[in-house]
Amino acid sequence: MIDIHSHILPSIDDGSQDIEDSLAQLATMKAGGIKRVYLTSHYFRGHYQYERSEYDLKFEALKAKAKAANICMELYPGFEIFLQPDILIDIQKHSLTMGDSPYILIESELNGLPNDFYSNIYPLLRAGYKPILAHAERYVSIMKKPSIAESLTHRNIYIQTNAGSLLGHYGEKVMKTAWTLVNNGWTHFIASDDHVRGNYGAFFEARGLINERVDHYTADLLCRINPASIASGEAIAYQYVDVHHPRPRRRNWFKRLFA
Ligand SMILES: [Fe+2]
Repeated sequence: MIDIHSHILPSIDDGSQDIEDSLAQLATMKAGGIKRVYLTSHYFRGHYQYERSEYDLKFEALKAKAKAANICMELYPGFEIFLQPDILIDIQKHSLTMGDSPYILIESELNGLPNDFYSNIYPLLRAGYKPILAHAERYVSIMKKPSIAESLTHRNIYIQTNAGSLLGHYGEKVMKTAWTLVNNGWTHFIASDDHVRGNYGAFFEARGLINERVDHYTADLLCRINPASIASGEAIAYQYVDVHHPRPRRRNWFKRLFA
């Protein structure tokens, strides 16, 4: 499994504040079967704003400590970028991508996607970036109308869903929306969005539930196959579902009569 959204890098945002806590969390993740994790610290102008060199220093320190502690996982740099006008300048200046890929994890205002959402995202698409909207199910506008997520996929925006949302950690409405996204094929990634405040089990539990309620392939696609494609460069389909739950074929009236 690969986790593409986490706040495990210590002392840079509202996630982990202690390198020992980060190491303990990485050890838990490794034990559960996580092979690769993106350390997607918040980047939010005026709130969590830093030079790329500052991020890299902390990233390398954690990587070295993890290696020394024999926690063999692939750690990749990443950022959760708050979408704002002209954010392209910061993305280009600091290379705020996920690893060396063109993918960028973005977030916006949870109380509703703002009116300038598309006009802020369009320059990023035009510059060749591949935006992934973080925890789409938590936006009020998407909760009201989940098919907005589908329309985003038609505008070349990928969707990420939090594992905790599928388990009800953010309330009933978010949970319902998260399952609507999964059941309709309107999400491409499940990730933890882990802030190192509690146990990490949600990601494993969510995968198990998708396995049970949808199918094994979808669980694998969202938790491993698509996340792996970020680094490998394999294309990730924006629309990938014909039918998730094929209806049983109805027998014709003649067969039903004589069954
Ligand atoms: Fe996050």
